[in-house]
Amino acid sequence: MLRVAAVGDVHFAEDSCGKMRPHWCHVHEHADVLLLSGDLTNVGNTAQALVLAEELRCVNVPVVAVLGNHDYHAGQPGQVRRALEQVGVTVLEGETTTLAVGHETLAIAGTKGFGGGFPGACGHAFGEPEMKAFMHVTERCAEALESNLRGLRADYRIALLHYSPVKDTLQGERLEIYPFLGSYRLAEALDRGGADLAIHGHAHHGAEKGITTRGIPVRNAAMPLIKRPYTVYELGGTADIVDRTTEIAA
Ligand SMILES: [Fe+2]
Ligand SMILES: [Fe+2]
Repeated sequence: MLRVAAVGDVHFAEDSCGKMRPHWCHVHEHADVLLLSGDLTNVGNTAQALVLAEELRCVNVPVVAVLGNHDYHAGQPGQVRRALEQVGVTVLEGETTTLAVGHETLAIAGTKGFGGGFPGACGHAFGEPEMKAFMHVTERCAEALESNLRGLRADYRIALLHYSPVKDTLQGERLEIYPFLGSYRLAEALDRGGADLAIHGHAHHGAEKGITTRGIPVRNAAMPLIKRPYTVYELGGTADIVDRTTEIAA
């Protein structure tokens, strides 16, 4: 059995020192790995990234992250990535990593993803170049995700995203903004590429649990939603993903 802690949308600011450290220092007591599902900073400047990186130094398990839209706002996602990498965090964007956890292996394919909406109410790469560009970003993320998932060889495969692949985990958000919260193309990539679990963030007012058409569990780990420093998902203990949110005091 493998225990995966995850949280997203911690939205670190310059004054966030101490916000997560007391909890993250104890992740190893509950989980084998910590996954961060984007919006790790408020505006993605170097100062905020450095505060976050310092906070992560105490974590005693491997940390794997994707960035979120907020981490791109200052136009310095590379700086955010470097700050995290300097404290040992693996940052994925259209990339994969494989970890050995005891006798088992966990492979993670990560991408921020992007919006576009869901069947019946989604954008199309049609018309203005700006609209085509928007949809092409989503398409590229989905294609990379599918191809990366197909290539993973491990006991467990997780897709780590910021944007949602399904509508289920957006329940509670306003319908008008669904196209800015995720895309069905990410779910298609999951179903074609295969995964044991997909984790995302971004939808602060959404729902925790969802599922793709072919039955891949989807979990929204946005901290404003889970109201915990992280949730732990157990893989392999039973037929289904077992969530252990309540065992960890906020
Ligand atoms: Fe967020
Ligand atoms: Fe976001």
